[in-house]
Amino acid sequence: MCASGQPITLLLFYLFGSATSSPVSMHTSDPPLLSQISPPSPTTLASPPSPSLSTPPPISNSGETTEKVRCPLSMSPSTLVVRFGDPVRANCSVSRMDFSALGWEVKLGAPTLSMGPFVVWSVDSMTEWNEKPMCYALSEQGGQCHINLPLTVYKPPDIVSINFVNHTGPMLEGHQYTLQCTVQNVAPVENLVVTFYRGQTALGQLQSNNTEKEPVTEIFSLNITPSKEDDGVQYWCEAKLELGPAGIKHPPMERSEKLTATVLVGPQLMCPTKLRVREGESLSCEVRGNPPPLVTWFRDGQVVALPTNFSRKDAGKYTVSAKGLFGQNNFTVEVEVLAGSGTTISCNIHFLLAGLLIQMINGL
Ligand SMILES: *[C@@H]1O[C@H](CO)[C@@H](O)[C@H](O)[C@H]1NC(C)=O
Ligand SMILES: *[C@@H]1O[C@H](CO)[C@@H](O)[C@H](O)[C@H]1NC(C)=O
Ligand SMILES: *[C@@H]1O[C@H](CO)[C@@H](O)[C@H](O)[C@H]1NC(C)=O
Ligand SMILES: *[C@@H]1O[C@H](CO)[C@@H](O)[C@H](O)[C@H]1NC(C)=O
Ligand SMILES: *[C@@H]1O[C@H](CO)[C@@H](O)[C@H](O)[C@H]1NC(C)=O
Repeated sequence: MCASGQPITLLLFYLFGSATSSPVSMHTSDPPLLSQISPPSPTTLASPPSPSLSTPPPISNSGETTEKVRCPLSMSPSTLVVRFGDPVRANCSVSRMDFSALGWEVKLGAPTLSMGPFVVWSVDSMTEWNEKPMCYALSEQGGQCHINLPLTVYKPPDIVSINFVNHTGPMLEGHQYTLQCTVQNVAPVENLVVTFYRGQTALGQLQSNNTEKEPVTEIFSLNITPSKEDDGVQYWCEAKLELGPAGIKHPPMERSEKLTATVLVGPQLMCPTKLRVREGESLSCEVRGNPPPLVTWFRDGQVVALPTNFSRKDAGKYTVSAKGLFGQNNFTVEVEVLAGSGTTISCNIHFLLAGLLIQMINGL
């Protein structure tokens, strides 16, 4: 039993490598413990001392070493973003020499176990979507530790297209429509950010919560309610793969074609219902609509030409009938004619703005 101190010291020395101080302190504390345990059972030497000798020291020692050291492996680069089909390469190295072997756990191109301080995983063409590379080190005492290499395998979409759901042709003002952006064959779809645009204005950003790593086709939708200002605007969508700082500075991006909107607006009378006009003047009234409405003036049920030169007898109620694509709208306008104020400024300007006054805002 006296000799038992030496093997323990050797074992400790072996575990701690070159560290000299700790084995000494362990050595001095251990023997009393062992001598206290061993005396009560000198006859049954085989069974009780062996568990006490074999179990406590390795547990306490290995526990201390793993706590102090953690995993001494390092990875270069620490994360990887690779386009499907492109080469991939990572170097896993160990800082301390008390590990006997290094290896990679990968589906594709696993290198052989290395006895040196590093091991490189290298693949000419990355053709595996679900690769979760791991580098591990085996220690001589049978311990093991590992680190993961976060890897993103991406593929830009084949096609990005935009369309309306169940609708073609012009839209009606104030009605709701659904825009749909279809992104075909993209991976990983959870890194995809889809933005809808109206001209240069971003309308909304959408992301998928599908965690599939292989390429998928996904449809993103956005509801819009066009106004008359939207006539002629272009709707489009953009699909961008956000691959993080480890990815590329300019993330892969695809744009859809542009969808030009036609917004139909019913006839609207922009005149006040009561109009005052001086003798000798004409009145102007604006009727809006897309397409331009057909405007007819009525007085007492009779079609009249609007006087360009109002006199007192022309005062009264007029009906403006505006016929647009959504039917006919009638508006009543009451015209009061004021006495000309001495100076008869003959105002011949006669214009009836009855046409379309919709602005085509292209690329706002
Ligand atoms: C791997 O990394 C280690 C540690 O940084 C370095 O010594 C070694 O040269 C690298 N090997 C290759 C092939 O890059
Ligand atoms: C589009 O129309 C089809 C056939 O009429 C219908 O089955 C589908 O539910 C509609 N989709 C939407 C989003 O309204
Ligand atoms: C994705 O997220 C939306 C809302 O954020 C949720 O309604 C939907 O159930 C989610 N889908 C999946 C597959 O988790
Ligand atoms: C407008 O009417 C007045 C009186 O009826 C007449 O003197 C004037 O010449 C007319 N002007 C035009 C432009 O018709
Ligand atoms: C508008 O007025 C015209 C002429 O009075 C009439 O024929 C038509 O029916 C009216 N339309 C509506 C919608 O009231």
